[in-house]
Amino acid sequence: MARAAQAITRIGVLTGGGDCPGLNPVIRAVVRRSVAAGLDVVGIANGWKGLIEADTRPLDLMSVSGIIHRGGTILGTSRTNPYKTPGHVAALMATVQSLALDAIVAIGGEDTLGAASKLAAEGLRVVGVPKTIDNDLSGTDYTFGFDTAVNIAMEAIDRLHTTAESHHRIMVVEVMGRHAGWIGLHAGLAGGADVILLPEFPIDVDEVCAAIRQRHGRGKTFSIVVVAEGAEFKKGQHITQDAGRQLDEFGHVRLGGIGQRIAELIERQTGFETRVTVLGHIQRGGSPTAFDRVLGTRFGVKAVELALAGAFGQMVSLQGNRIVSVPIAEAVGTLKTVDREMYELAKVFFG
Ligand code: F6P
Repeated sequence: MARAAQAITRIGVLTGGGDCPGLNPVIRAVVRRSVAAGLDVVGIANGWKGLIEADTRPLDLMSVSGIIHRGGTILGTSRTNPYKTPGHVAALMATVQSLALDAIVAIGGEDTLGAASKLAAEGLRVVGVPKTIDNDLSGTDYTFGFDTAVNIAMEAIDRLHTTAESHHRIMVVEVMGRHAGWIGLHAGLAGGADVILLPEFPIDVDEVCAAIRQRHGRGKTFSIVVVAEGAEFKKGQHITQDAGRQLDEFGHVRLGGIGQRIAELIERQTGFETRVTVLGHIQRGGSPTAFDRVLGTRFGVKAVELALAGAFGQMVSLQGNRIVSVPIAEAVGTLKTVDREMYELAKVFFG
């Protein structure tokens, strides 16, 4: 809830969770807008970890010069959950107090902003900026990073098309998307995939093979199947890269392997030679697209303006073409997933 604006002089900024193209444009915009308002800016290293460990540094105009085109985050990131270890929230609050930070801009996805929402309820003066290549945060039409990831995946699909066609193969492309299939849906549609498999809709292998056979029956000799890493077989379980691995601090298991599994089943059932490409972290690396640079810039400016207005506990949000704000709690309450209507549209192009 917005409180009465009160003068602020020092603002901190952090980036948490998986990195994402567009983080540096947001940091740059936060610093530029803050300096214009006469604020001192403190860069916090590695997400919430930097506040727990008091690992910070001053940021000025020079610190953010020449970074708008750079991927990753100049502040570093981690998946540290301050609520995981007793004493960490108190340590974090003590750092905020000792550095005299009047406001924090937390740039992150569901986990970082989930923690921000709880910390706001405990009195931390925090403003959120939604980040994730997965585009699965509620409360905003788009998160920055998504457009870049989709374009990287689309280009990969374009490249796989030519080699698939030359060798008359099925190419399975595994893309990121833990709980939501937005990257798979958009990259698959844009890249002209022949089947798209998403976490929201359990995989029916017979249907997949029927679509491929139908396509080959009309003379095509290759197919592209896009599968999101979090997709599951009907009545199945997640195929994990290493089931024995520990969970991260927010309880997520490392995904991966569904592409390989579906490829084996397709080859076995159709007899067509099938290969797999796992795009993995390539989707998160490198330069942000123009869309993500502009969205990140608009988010960063708005975040500082919310802090100046005393609108703590709020998150910047894109709605239509306007940047507005919503309660952080609203954005992290439920994940934004692909709905049946969108998937039915994608299915028009299957086979
Ligand atoms: O949350 C974004 C995301 O890209 C997911 O799609 C993916 O499962 C996860 O990050 C993997 O991140 P990491 O390998 O850094 O744990």
